[in-house]
Amino acid sequence: MPRNATNEWHRRRDVRAVIWAIVPAAGRGARFGGDVPKQYLQIAGEPLIAHALDALLAEPRVEGAVVALAADDARWPGWTSRAGKPLRRCDGGGERADSVLAALHALPAAVGDDDLVLVHDAARPNLRVDDVSRLIDAALGHADGAILAAPVRDTLKRAGRDGAIAATEPREALWRALTPQAFRRGPLTRALQAARDAGAVVTDEAMAMERAGARPRLVEGREDNLKVTTPADLALAEYLLARR
Ligand code: CTP
Ligand code: MG
Repeated sequence: MPRNATNEWHRRRDVRAVIWAIVPAAGRGARFGGDVPKQYLQIAGEPLIAHALDALLAEPRVEGAVVALAADDARWPGWTSRAGKPLRRCDGGGERADSVLAALHALPAAVGDDDLVLVHDAARPNLRVDDVSRLIDAALGHADGAILAAPVRDTLKRAGRDGAIAATEPREALWRALTPQAFRRGPLTRALQAARDAGAVVTDEAMAMERAGARPRLVEGREDNLKVTTPADLALAEYLLARR
């Protein structure tokens, strides 16, 4: 087959790809503190998890979502659809990666090995749909998938053991990994399973894929797609959502 024909085949095949979202929401929010896990804190009239889900489902190509919840979660409103799209739930696990792996297994059978899965933190409410669209475009065109990321802006210091500065680190090639992160279902499932089998702690999906030898694309996303980790982050997210 001539090269152009091969590319054309991949392009047409990818256009048909089924796309689902996964939202890990089984965390306890230890750094945030308080009784209510942060994914259920309200801003702009909705819990954080609703903002996260709605941002994903607003992308026309995203067909549905799986949320991973703590087994003893009594706050989940029981949604089975949102924005006219199906919503499934599953029990998460002890680490974020365990929750994502559980959700991958809970996807419908219609999501094939080569179909695309977007993993997005429940604690990131300020996601814009155009970032989701650009991520999908990049991931469809790249076998190893893609992630939203933002270049590091601050000057970086390495601390010595005494708490004093040991060095200034070059930041030119450094990015902050955001979510969503988009990978094909089969390779992502195998990469997360391999990391678990090896006892390796992976803090995002890309890290699992990197361990497996993949080189996912960086897609520059909005810097205000922040993860709510502390009460100060919540105030900032509230301000950003109110301005939209
Ligand atoms: N998460 C999950 N399962 C876990 C741990 C985390 O699904 N076992 C989810 C969280 O609910 C959150 C996302 O992964 O939506 C990002 O994790 P993080 O911000 O660390 O949330 P928490 O783990 O809840 O917070 P903390 O680390 O402060 O306890
Ligand atoms: Mg955590």
